[in-house]
Amino acid sequence: MIYGEKIRLRAIEREDLPRFVAWLNDPEVLQGLLIYLPLSQVAEENWYENMLKRPPDEHPMAIEVKQVDGWLHIGNCGYMNIDWRCRSGEVGIFIGEKRLWNQGYGTETMRLLLRHGFDTLNLNRIALDVYDTNLRAIRSYEKVGFIHEGCKRQAIFKEGKYFDILQMSVLRQEWEGQ
Ligand SMILES: CC(C)(COP(=O)(O)OP(=O)(O)OC[C@H]1O[C@@H](n2cnc3c(N)ncnc32)[C@H](O)[C@@H]1OP(=O)(O)O)[C@@H](O)C(=O)NCCC(=O)NCCS
Repeated sequence: MIYGEKIRLRAIEREDLPRFVAWLNDPEVLQGLLIYLPLSQVAEENWYENMLKRPPDEHPMAIEVKQVDGWLHIGNCGYMNIDWRCRSGEVGIFIGEKRLWNQGYGTETMRLLLRHGFDTLNLNRIALDVYDTNLRAIRSYEKVGFIHEGCKRQAIFKEGKYFDILQMSVLRQEWEGQ
């Protein structure tokens, strides 16, 4: 497990899947994500089986928050598209428990993911994509040191409109300079 101050990251278990199905059918949670079709429990179980076949470093992790009576699962995060030769990787995150948005958990999760990426995976560059309308996400990424590096114009079509996708990244030298 990867421990932070208020949160920890652990492996995803089969028992977590019904929570993912509920969260990933919530239009508000989906606003910032690529998913656009209703998600069934069976589709989620297939995703889980396929996920287990991917390289372990790219397995998503469950985000849990410390409560008085134990740990509460609130979302999911992880690495993808790791390029070991160029030492680069991409990160993704979602917190499905909406009542816990804006309480710093996303920022702390991203900080833990960066620490894991630089100090454990030995990456040199960590990047992500975010919709230009997702101001909460952008703010939390900026707070942990992500730099704006580009914009894919009108790259996504959702709810009858095109949106820009912003590209952000952190380099090892920037992380070490913080
Ligand atoms: C994006 C997400 C991970 C952020 O996590 P979070 O725990 O809600 O965010 P945090 O509380 O750590 O930080 C949010 C920051 O944005 C700020 N913020 C919130 N709404 C904002 C807005 N409309 N405009 C500007 N800033 C805003 C908050 O004030 C806070 O900054 P502060 O601490 O300086 O005050 C989470 O909201 C989420 O999972 N959303 C749904 C899925 C999603 O969009 N995932 C990201 C895909 S790229």
